[in-house]
Amino acid sequence: MHFATKAIHIGNEKDPLTGAVVPPLYLSSTFAPDGEFSEAAFDYSRSGNPTRTGLERTLTAIEGGSGALAFSSGMAAIHGALQLLKSGDHIIAGTDIYGGTYRILSKILSRQGVTASFVDLNDEEALEAAYRSTTKMIWVENPGNPLLTLVDIEALSASAKLHGALLAVDNTFATAVATRPLSLGADIVVHSATKFFGGHSDLLGGALIVADLELWKELYFIQNATGAVMAPFDCYLCSRGIKTLELRFREQCRSSQRIAEQLSRHSDVLRVYYPGLESHPQHELAKRQLNNQFGAIVSFELKAGYEAAKTFIRCTKLFQRAVSVGAVESLIEQPASMSHASYDRKARLAAGIHDGLIRLSVGLEHIDDLLADLEIGFRAAKPRVAAVQASNWLEFDLASVSSEGAL
Ligand SMILES: Cc1ncc(COP(=O)(O)O)c(C=O)c1O
Repeated sequence: MHFATKAIHIGNEKDPLTGAVVPPLYLSSTFAPDGEFSEAAFDYSRSGNPTRTGLERTLTAIEGGSGALAFSSGMAAIHGALQLLKSGDHIIAGTDIYGGTYRILSKILSRQGVTASFVDLNDEEALEAAYRSTTKMIWVENPGNPLLTLVDIEALSASAKLHGALLAVDNTFATAVATRPLSLGADIVVHSATKFFGGHSDLLGGALIVADLELWKELYFIQNATGAVMAPFDCYLCSRGIKTLELRFREQCRSSQRIAEQLSRHSDVLRVYYPGLESHPQHELAKRQLNNQFGAIVSFELKAGYEAAKTFIRCTKLFQRAVSVGAVESLIEQPASMSHASYDRKARLAAGIHDGLIRLSVGLEHIDDLLADLEIGFRAAKPRVAAVQASNWLEFDLASVSSEGAL
């Protein structure tokens, strides 16, 4: 079966009782089976719920795994995977990662006696030097948030196996449409289902998908013991979202490529980060690993820095100033003050997440409208650019920014 067929049919079989082509939503928190309680398929919704099981079957099918678990958020899924680690263990993570992942690795795991090293995973020597006898897991995002860095998953998986570590790939940005990390040797695929899977900014969810059933059982034990399951209604919305995932993603990739190309020609832009650009350092790898579908997140850096970026993101209208990615509506944000504000500033700058960086999540609005909207941002930020050029931007009065956008 092809991707779209699996996404629509697996886990969404018609209801045998009524013939309803959309399976019913099971909101029940508990179940009263007729037979032996211990043999019932469902007994309590933390341990299992038919709507969640349907979604987990879809997730398993589209990622090519043996089992999946749906969590209450992406962070809950990440937390669940990290509970595989015990006091004394060590984890190596990439430097281009979501601020919340950085926070849990650097500030929560340490309380549990687990240490984390943040390493440029494209630097083979640095990676080799980071391994310890206690290294149990490698964590990478495909591609990274917010700089869209790619790491060769196949090579990283070989390296992790050599050192007896599990490889976890947060595949939120690529989605199962572009990359299937399990087929490249990853042990755990992680998703914030809040993003492309849901696709409509109306649910919170997370997922873990694995190939090894023993690992699935261990993660199921952790999830059932800790309780961060996805709510039935969110599962229902997520299943519905996944049905159109491939279509949405393909179109969003197309618009993103156009936007990235336009931005890279703009005189106020210092740098554009998008794997579909030839200038991207891992463009060749991206063609292979992302299957020529380079995603719907485009980051770019304004020459004029922090204040100009702040003005820019307040003034666009279609690109709404909000965190999150992957939905039908376009969003814009400044990692330094929003999605990656949980980084220590020094660590953030060391990771290359500069003050003038802007991250776009490209939705499904018409491309011409989106391009025109970005022009509003550029025009609004212009006085900032001029102020920075005149080196007196500290005295610059925010209220003097003239724009069509509301400040
Ligand atoms: C790559 C990535 N992973 C995980 C998360 C966390 O997901 P959630 O917000 O659903 O907890 C995010 C959130 O932005 C993300 O961008």
